[in-house]
Amino acid sequence: MPTDKTPEELVAHQVRMCSLEDRVAGWREAALACGRQLLALVPEGGTVVDIGCGAGLGFKPLSDAGHPPLRLIGVEVAAEKAAIARELNAGALILQMDAHTLELPHNSVDVAYSRHAFEHLYDPGKVLRMLSKALKPDGKLFLIVPFPDHVDECHVSCEIMGTTSDDPTRFFQFLADNGFDVQSHEKTSDALGAEIRVIATPRKTG
Ligand SMILES: C[S@@+](CC[C@H](N)C(=O)[O-])C[C@H]1O[C@@H](n2cnc3c(N)ncnc32)[C@H](O)[C@@H]1O
Repeated sequence: MPTDKTPEELVAHQVRMCSLEDRVAGWREAALACGRQLLALVPEGGTVVDIGCGAGLGFKPLSDAGHPPLRLIGVEVAAEKAAIARELNAGALILQMDAHTLELPHNSVDVAYSRHAFEHLYDPGKVLRMLSKALKPDGKLFLIVPFPDHVDECHVSCEIMGTTSDDPTRFFQFLADNGFDVQSHEKTSDALGAEIRVIATPRKTG
């Protein structure tokens, strides 16, 4: 961690930086649209985790889908947003915590999802390695990050992740180094500008 700040200070800073995203025009619609894309990836009755779930918009299409019930686990460090996510997704388990400290049982998750959150993590590789173990062997990671991105005090990890260039080679290598093989990707743009959507599978060893 190339800073003199503690993990708690780094995370608190990100909470402040992310507090205004719902004022971005089109943000809500874009988040819901990604949630519908997520729904299409989830098997019946599957378990889904959303890292940095914010106000829970990504889960909304899954909650609305009803039967058979899915097991939804949202992880959000900002208390106010976690509370909104709970209200929006009755039945989902919304954990108000730092994703860096999350531990999930191995081989328990069908789809790990994250939209516009990994660029805020000071150690995105650590969270990816945890998710790689938590996913079932046929599970999937659906990851959306700004692309190409630029480092600022909000997007602290895009240099580490290799998302600063228009060429995804370094990003895919970062994913491989942290437990994932990319199966498909799409460069697109939504309310927050250019982004990349990646579907990857966990590398299972031993
Ligand atoms: C730009 S918002 C995206 C929210 C949501 N994924 C969506 O698409 O609407 C990023 C979210 O990540 C959360 N976040 C940032 N760092 C986090 C951390 N270390 N652990 C958990 N959540 C975090 C922020 O509080 C914020 O709600």
